[in-house]
Amino acid sequence: MKIFIDSANLQDIENALKRGFVRGITTNPSILSKEPKGVFKDHIKKIVDLIRQYQPDTHLSVEVFSRNTEEIVRQARDFVESFAHPHLSVKIQVGGDELEAIRRVSQEGISVNCTCCMTTNQAIMAAAAGARYVSLFWGRIRDMGSIEEKLKDPALSGEKRTILVSHARMKQEYLTRGVTEERQFDPAYVMRNTREILDRRYPGVEIIAGSMRSASDVKNAGLSGAHIVTVPPKFFPDMISHFKTDEVVQDFLNDFEKWMS
Ligand code: E4P
Repeated sequence: MKIFIDSANLQDIENALKRGFVRGITTNPSILSKEPKGVFKDHIKKIVDLIRQYQPDTHLSVEVFSRNTEEIVRQARDFVESFAHPHLSVKIQVGGDELEAIRRVSQEGISVNCTCCMTTNQAIMAAAAGARYVSLFWGRIRDMGSIEEKLKDPALSGEKRTILVSHARMKQEYLTRGVTEERQFDPAYVMRNTREILDRRYPGVEIIAGSMRSASDVKNAGLSGAHIVTVPPKFFPDMISHFKTDEVVQDFLNDFEKWMS
């Protein structure tokens, strides 16, 4: 399992690259919007500069910001030219019309990371259209499974409740029509199914598990078949530290100090 960093924060990216454990960087429009206001392309170029400085073969995924096929294709070409990074993937959201964009962009030799996938079917269709990576949103898949539980919370605010009620209705409609089944809201199940089919039919396509909500999610996504897990930097400390490690390291140092004195 490779680890990517899911961030556009220059400091977090630099820290991770310095430490040598990330093989890629994924961004999306929401992630970028968390950074100080600035020029989009300049910001991405700063990320590319960091990659060049620390680890030139690092993957970088940059997402298009349009739902229009022609515009997506235009942006994809523009990203390749503007960022000039040999390990760039253009992130294109999954969707019916978007499949055409994925096909056209891939046929031009541009690596596509098809993002926002919630189901195996979506991921397989994206792979068939030419995507090099498919991003499955682990946390958001699971969120849909627990809507009913969440709605029982009396503290749920009005706006959030309205959104959840509408999601619950859509989920019910999907279940009734047989579009999906309850177990499709278990991200580990979706991951295993997707990996199994990709391995058989599209072995060159890698799954990126996104939408991590904890350090445990990272390991579980990897165990379920994700080739890559992209992780928000706030989870790195939880992934690398352990209170027993701290204790034993300190014990060793104390013992040694006593022996030396
Ligand atoms: C993946 O590539 C996405 O950037 C990301 O993981 C989205 O996750 P979210 O559910 O935290 O928005």
